[in-house]
Amino acid sequence: MQTWRLDSTRQTLVLAARRERLPEVVYWGAPLPAGEDLDTIARGHAIDVTGGMLDENPDLSICPEAVRSFPGQPGLILRDEDSSPLLPKFCFEKADEAESELELHYADAALKIGYVASFAIDSETHIITAQARLTASRPVHLHWLAAPVFPGPQNSGEMIDFTGRWCGEFKTATTAWSAGMRFRENRTGRTGHEHFPGLIVPCTGATNTQGEAYAFHYGWSGGHKMIAEELPDGRRQIQFGHAARMETEAATEFRSSPLYASYSGVGINGCATAFQRHLRDRIVQFPNPDRPRPVHYNCWEAVYFDHNLPVLKDIATRAASLGAERFVLDDGWFGQRDDDTTSLSDWEVDPRKYPDGLGPLIDHVHGQGMSFGIWFEPEMINPESDVYRKNPHWALGAEDQILGRQQKALNMALPEVREFIFDRMAKILRDHEIDYIKWDHNRVLPMPDAAQTRGSYALIDALREVFPAVEIESCASGGGRIDFGILSRTHRVWLSDSNDALERLRIQHNAALFLPTVVTGSHVGPRHCHTSGRVHDISFRAWVAAQRHMGFEMDPRELDTREEAVLKEVTSWFKHNRDWMHKADILRLDSPDPAVIAEQQQATDGSRFVVFAGAAGTSDQIAPRPLKLTRLDAERTYRVRLVNRASTSGLSRGTPILKGEDIEVSGAWLMSQGLTLPCPMPCTMWVLEGERL
Ligand code: GLA
Repeated sequence: MQTWRLDSTRQTLVLAARRERLPEVVYWGAPLPAGEDLDTIARGHAIDVTGGMLDENPDLSICPEAVRSFPGQPGLILRDEDSSPLLPKFCFEKADEAESELELHYADAALKIGYVASFAIDSETHIITAQARLTASRPVHLHWLAAPVFPGPQNSGEMIDFTGRWCGEFKTATTAWSAGMRFRENRTGRTGHEHFPGLIVPCTGATNTQGEAYAFHYGWSGGHKMIAEELPDGRRQIQFGHAARMETEAATEFRSSPLYASYSGVGINGCATAFQRHLRDRIVQFPNPDRPRPVHYNCWEAVYFDHNLPVLKDIATRAASLGAERFVLDDGWFGQRDDDTTSLSDWEVDPRKYPDGLGPLIDHVHGQGMSFGIWFEPEMINPESDVYRKNPHWALGAEDQILGRQQKALNMALPEVREFIFDRMAKILRDHEIDYIKWDHNRVLPMPDAAQTRGSYALIDALREVFPAVEIESCASGGGRIDFGILSRTHRVWLSDSNDALERLRIQHNAALFLPTVVTGSHVGPRHCHTSGRVHDISFRAWVAAQRHMGFEMDPRELDTREEAVLKEVTSWFKHNRDWMHKADILRLDSPDPAVIAEQQQATDGSRFVVFAGAAGTSDQIAPRPLKLTRLDAERTYRVRLVNRASTSGLSRGTPILKGEDIEVSGAWLMSQGLTLPCPMPCTMWVLEGERL
């Protein structure tokens, strides 16, 4: 028996291999004592054999092998040069061990196929990163390669993964474990609104704030496949990898993307904060990490394609006076782009709209103390464009394919395509003082193709090398490309095209299962929401945006005096608090009322917090139920203040204490009894600040 273990203060992972075989994860959960005998752990993990079974149970290894009688889905599906199936049987070669890292090398000598699994555990973020690599002596065809396979817990009744749609990202889908498998496969070639590559497996009784949970995220932007399978013997396996058959060429080496995994003994929030911290502190590479996230102004919902210099200047002046610090010029500045039917790829300033180029607008924006950002959709081309007319073969997919938003994707695997787009974008970035790109990707691919995603990554990497100070926002009709793969080369996500504060409240709440505040864009939209038709008060819109990386997207000329005043006030609150909030953990609260969506953003040292309690609907009962807080020090005293108590409506006639004064109470009381808030109107937000005394 060979054994290996990886530890952080939150979890232990033990791998064990019988003789030369691939190892299994024989333990993953709460930390084990240092002296634990791993041989016994491995033998203690093995299940019995009874009637109707083979004489020995096939291993649920990190890459279950079809050839070893494994009764479930294999971790690898491969064909040789001549297309005959390859069924490797891997044998141990060597293990490279370092502190918190493990790399295991295996090979099938007869077939000349190698397999390497790497594991790393982060002692601060509590994320385990696992990746698989396959090598062959000659080009082979890959159908499926799972990142190292983890077991699913058996004391769990259900699993939670993600669905969604345009303007409705990060919806959760809960599925009961049962015999067979939950299979998710995204064949759109893009991470997608519908397929965020994440999975949460809560153990029985777990909630946001208590119990045990496991969570996974696959860091790849080209579409993933997930298998959560229960075998007839009761064991469960979880596999993540690229969508199947998306490697179109035979090759001698393939890699999975990193699979990020975490165990928590302190509720689903333990997994969520592990992902939030890992993304913020390890994955995202800010050009200047000490620069506070600037308040954005984005002109999309104000002017769409109708760019008029005096109007944009006026808007910029007003945005700056409201508190904006970065002005982002959205779609419509290039080619002949008067609507979404033309010009993608013609990345040259439209002289009809900007006769003197972008300089005058950029100078004006800078004069208002704001930096300047600009929109591109680099991987796309309209058949109605100069570039397409000259190079129709640059487009990916068949001539007669169905278009998406009247556009095709460029074939990003072609170096000449990447070079052309690089040159056009570089010219704009070199000729102007621009510190930000909103990088869009508004359609799915005609077919899944890993080379396309690698081409996109290569283009972003090349631009970042030459323009290291430029930050990039990942947008794809809103939240269609959000994953740790794209976020290792970008700095913000446009979470959704929905600026409806009510929708946004829910989307943000669920996205916080993986995303920290600092990368999550959130804008105050128009009074009359363009994507839902709803009308929300400025205060609700502003507070929802202030929960994440705040910005504005309405036409500021529509604001009346009160709206301006509220927006200024909330923006200044945001600026005052962003330094600590952008390093805080977002803790989702277990709201006792389904109409209330609530979270606690807490400084990592526990010294302060802010609670946002959003009334997403009307409650069944008359008065608000007490809202219990979490992760406080039971013994310590906290001062709690209802920040926006002045906005209680006339229908709140009583005297709940927070309406009139700040309170000083113990962490124990806040966690066991909770805060009694004034009656809210639907679509309003209570904001509470807490300070440990
Ligand atoms: C996408 C984005 C929007 C906007 C438009 C511009 O839909 O999600 O925010 O940039 O493209 O065409």
